Amino acid sequence: MSSRRAFLSSASLAAAGLALTPLCACSHDAVAGAASSPAAARPARNAARAGGALATRIIPSTGEAIPVIGAGTSGSYEVAIASADFARLQETIRVFFEGGATVFDTSPNYGTADAVLGALLADGDWRERCFLATKIAADDRAAMEAQWAESLRRLQTDRVELLQVHNLRAMDIAWPYAQALKADGATRYIGFTHYLESGHAALVEAMRAHRPDFVQVNYSVNAPQAARTVLPVAQDLGVAVLVNRAFDDGRLFPQVADRTLPAWAEAVEVTSWAQMFLKFAISHPAVTAVIPATGRPDRQADQLRAGSGPMLSEAQQAELVAMFA
Ligand SMILES: NC(=O)c1ccc[n+]([C@@H]2O[C@H](COP(=O)([O-])OP(=O)(O)OC[C@H]3O[C@@H](n4cnc5c(N)ncnc54)[C@H](OP(=O)(O)O)[C@@H]3O)[C@@H](O)[C@H]2O)c1
Repeated sequence: MSSRRAFLSSASLAAAGLALTPLCACSHDAVAGAASSPAAARPARNAARAGGALATRIIPSTGEAIPVIGAGTSGSYEVAIASADFARLQETIRVFFEGGATVFDTSPNYGTADAVLGALLADGDWRERCFLATKIAADDRAAMEAQWAESLRRLQTDRVELLQVHNLRAMDIAWPYAQALKADGATRYIGFTHYLESGHAALVEAMRAHRPDFVQVNYSVNAPQAARTVLPVAQDLGVAVLVNRAFDDGRLFPQVADRTLPAWAEAVEVTSWAQMFLKFAISHPAVTAVIPATGRPDRQADQLRAGSGPMLSEAQQAELVAMFA
């Protein structure tokens, strides 16, 4: 491990520890680009409604800080533009950015989601505040180049903050292409993703081989395997981690319909199961941000509340895992 990455990895742990203290009201100001945007100049009207300032974590490869609660577009943003669903997303994304969040994860594989996200970012003038992550998901260089050009067109931008190889697809072609785009300044960070435990061994192998800026992996109370596989390696190598499927694609909610929160929920400032599932994900010190999907403003505000207050202890995390085993 390089000494810079070792130092920044320690800094990341320190940042995780910061979340245990009263939150810095200016934590989201550390996000690059925020100050230059007209949208950024607007008062954060919903900050209090969404639970106050979000904790941030450090990206080990640069030291840049990003908020611990982000969003994904799979399913929830796959709507028709100019529909009632789109109008609801305009409100959802306003709650997201005005609550201090910045990280959006999308993919050319998610139906209309890229075009919808691009339209929403343009409509609300949110692009400069957004840490925009998308993916390459194709099998040969020509298809990747065409897909990248189309992604930029749909997202209404000329660069992204993070470009990920979707599910490690065609890595031998996709990774050199991602590296070339990073060298050209088309993306600030590169990485790769998976969403199943069966992909963890390959993720670990690729992390050791390629030393990405980011890895994206599934991690939830009912699928906690990453804590034994990908997360310790990410910590060791100084790789930032985005967590997908923190709600197991929504399947966790029916399981808690009749369950009350643990007695200690109040002590960790958790008032809903959605907050509990997200707080579980960000309580692992290797995790940089979690990217839950929702297309509803009320759920968006609720999710942001998980990004402040105390993290869960190891005993509390273990209790949740046992509860959903
Ligand atoms: N291979 C990959 O790279 C990969 C794979 C999977 C996911 N991802 C990324 O990770 C993101 C998150 O994963 P995910 O979308 O699969 O699943 P998720 O975040 O675990 O769950 C999202 C689902 O939960 C529902 N939901 C949210 N809050 C709720 C609540 N309070 N009560 C009931 N339902 C609720 C959402 O529906 P509503 O919209 O109706 O709220 C949505 O259907 C994706 O959007 C994507 O960006 C990447």
